[in-house]
Amino acid sequence: MERTLVFLKPDSIQRRLAGRIIAQFEDKGLNIIAMKLMRVSPDLARRHYAEHIKKDWYQELETFITGGPIVAMILEGPEAIRVVREMVGATNGLTAVPGSIRGQFSSSRQMNLVHASDGPDSALREIGIFFDTEEIHSYEPTIRPWLRAPTEE
Ligand code: CDP
Ligand code: MG
Repeated sequence: MERTLVFLKPDSIQRRLAGRIIAQFEDKGLNIIAMKLMRVSPDLARRHYAEHIKKDWYQELETFITGGPIVAMILEGPEAIRVVREMVGATNGLTAVPGSIRGQFSSSRQMNLVHASDGPDSALREIGIFFDTEEIHSYEPTIRPWLRAPTEE
């Protein structure tokens, strides 16, 4: 089982797409084990996007990501980090494959609706940035017998 940090960026909330995007993760069989509506402060933005601070587009990204509430969540499932990255799609909504979330709903390189951790190290780091241990609630889904064979993870 893997855990990955996902958040719906302010454009998702403003465009009333939160429910439809979350539904896709639920439909896939991923478990939502933490979730909250919150505002990203400039300090949190700099911590989360530390690798991008030097980029010439960072300030614009910070303005966007702090410009309205987000919904942060932790998703759990087999190979969840890769599965969710592929569901989210390429960074630029214009080139993301049409079946991906960005491919379906975004026509922007910046306003691409969803963040998802890109590997095990960043998942661990980002979960620690957004959630305290007591905010995480893992559980066995009752539909588990109908999601995967018993011998699968
Ligand atoms: O989110 P992802 O890992 O796909 O992309 P990234 O290259 O790590 O960039 C982080 C975020 O910065 C993107 O999701 C975009 O919202 C934003 N960005 C931007 O505003 N302008 C760019 N030229 C590249 C990324
Ligand atoms: Mg990234």
